[in-house]
Amino acid sequence: MIHRISVLLSLCLTLFPFWTGSGVPTSPQGTDMIKKEAFGTSPDGKPVDLYTLKNKHGMEVRAMTYGGAIVSIRVPDRKGHFDDVALGFDKADDYTAKVPYFGAIIGRYGNRIANGKFTLDGKEYTLPKNDGPNSLHGGNKGFDKIVWEAEPFEKPDEVGVIFKHTSPDGDEGYPGNLKMTVTYMLTDKNELIFEYHATADKATPVNLTNHTYFNLAGDGQRDILGHELMLNADSFTPVDKTLIPTGKIVSVKGTPFDFTKLTVIGARIDQKDEQLILGHGYDHNFVLNRKDKGLTLAARVYEPTTGRVMEVSTTEPGVQFYSGNFLDGTLTGKQGHVYKLRYGFCLETQHYPDSPNEPSFPSTTLRAGQTYHSTTVYKFSTR
Ligand code: GLA
Repeated sequence: MIHRISVLLSLCLTLFPFWTGSGVPTSPQGTDMIKKEAFGTSPDGKPVDLYTLKNKHGMEVRAMTYGGAIVSIRVPDRKGHFDDVALGFDKADDYTAKVPYFGAIIGRYGNRIANGKFTLDGKEYTLPKNDGPNSLHGGNKGFDKIVWEAEPFEKPDEVGVIFKHTSPDGDEGYPGNLKMTVTYMLTDKNELIFEYHATADKATPVNLTNHTYFNLAGDGQRDILGHELMLNADSFTPVDKTLIPTGKIVSVKGTPFDFTKLTVIGARIDQKDEQLILGHGYDHNFVLNRKDKGLTLAARVYEPTTGRVMEVSTTEPGVQFYSGNFLDGTLTGKQGHVYKLRYGFCLETQHYPDSPNEPSFPSTTLRAGQTYHSTTVYKFSTR
């Protein structure tokens, strides 16, 4: 037994020379908290790098330069056992065109723009229609399908990567050169922070988000219907049959959309509610209750079997709660796990869908000379 353990230990040290394998840093320089390695190639043949970030509690986040995508998030359960709570693939080559945005940075416009059209300052712009009649998540080649430049950094209480990209004028039909940095930080408080900055040289809609699919039970091996969810939202934006908001902001009271108290996700998902039928489950934007424009709690998720808790705070006015309704068992993810219906959920912090065509919604227009700034924090704990 002891022999087996020491063989295992030396194997760990050979494979991960900077780490003990237990999450305890071994290098006095502290360079053990961040690692870069090759991760295959993007569908257009560019080399992709993978960054592994680790904090002092052993929490580990991996993100790759293709799509700036989160590849894995390893957090402990209430007994201290680590599992991966994000869906994804073992190598970049698996992230083909058919992948539903696992972990990726979404833009230029996260969510849908009706009929792939909007008018800004009197000029009409046409976008690719990649979701029925609508344009979804930035078009055919959104920010999830490009290789981002990356720059790692280390501070006393956090490690991170700054992803950089400039989307050219006319990219997927959007106006203006859009220069972006998206900073990922893993803190010693078990927080994964996304901070988005952008500037443009012409007015353009911008709505950046992250599309990680979570399964707090770990390793994407069962559906997420037993998770309990709280959304800090008294209202939501109902949709039409193509998932475009009707423009109304409706109270959640007395509907299956009332998550103001922790509620089991699966408790009402099959009710014959018009909005649930249109969304094939939950695929809706919730209007967050907020007192000011600062970081506000958007959501809390609790997984009872493992005790894992995830809290989402954001500066955004909305969050898309998507219950993984289009996962259908055709994708085989990490460690050969097949991702079936509702094996993951997303909480995409954002401005409301179709805002460029809905003057009553908070504006998503970034003008030349202004700076776009948005922050979202995913904090992990147990109870
Ligand atoms: C978003 C959308 C969903 C779906 C997923 C990707 O969450 O709102 O309708 O398109 O992305 O499959």
